Amino acid sequence: MANQRRPKTYSRKFNPSAEPRRAVGKYNDDTLLFAKRGHKVTGIDFLEEPIHIAKQKAVERKLTATFLVMDALKLADLPEHFDTVIDSGLFHVFSYDDRHRYVDGLASVLKPGGRFYLLCFSDDEPGTIGPRRVSEKEIRETFAEGWQIQSIERSRYEVRPDPNDPSFKDGGPKAWFVVVCRAMY
Ligand SMILES: C[S@@+](CC[C@H](N)C(=O)[O-])C[C@H]1O[C@@H](n2cnc3c(N)ncnc32)[C@H](O)[C@@H]1O
Repeated sequence: MANQRRPKTYSRKFNPSAEPRRAVGKYNDDTLLFAKRGHKVTGIDFLEEPIHIAKQKAVERKLTATFLVMDALKLADLPEHFDTVIDSGLFHVFSYDDRHRYVDGLASVLKPGGRFYLLCFSDDEPGTIGPRRVSEKEIRETFAEGWQIQSIERSRYEVRPDPNDPSFKDGGPKAWFVVVCRAMY
């Protein structure tokens, strides 16, 4: 979640045609990336370990960021409001009901007109290894009220090749890259 300081740099990062694939980290690496670019950022995870590792990395790299152990289904508990929220690898873990709880929480922490950037597993990806596949229809239904979908495009996760794990070949699992704007009211 970011309160922007340098919007130009930020929008360059999310130029879809320049970056057809997205790299995904494990321990709030996206938070660290935006902290490095000078944004005021808060990263969350409901597990202690990823937050502990992210905090360590921030110290080692001399970066300033806030890290919180918290459930993304309780975003409404956060007192802060953000210009931007980034989800790379979370949305697709939620069931139908939880997805709606999550998006209600998002609406409460995103400022009106704020943007939500999402990268999630796509139903273009065959097989069942990895997280649940999400369809374009589900994305459109989830953000049907109170949101404006600005773009939904086919993308991929870029994963580190592992010779012992041939799960995702041909350039990594297929994904949706979605940009959604919170309504102004
Ligand atoms: C693919 S990783 C995120 C990677 C991260 N975006 C990055 O760039 O490093 C997904 C994370 O979501 C966390 N997670 C799953 N369910 C959650 C929930 N309900 N609330 C908060 N975090 C959750 C997991 O613990 C896991 O660390």
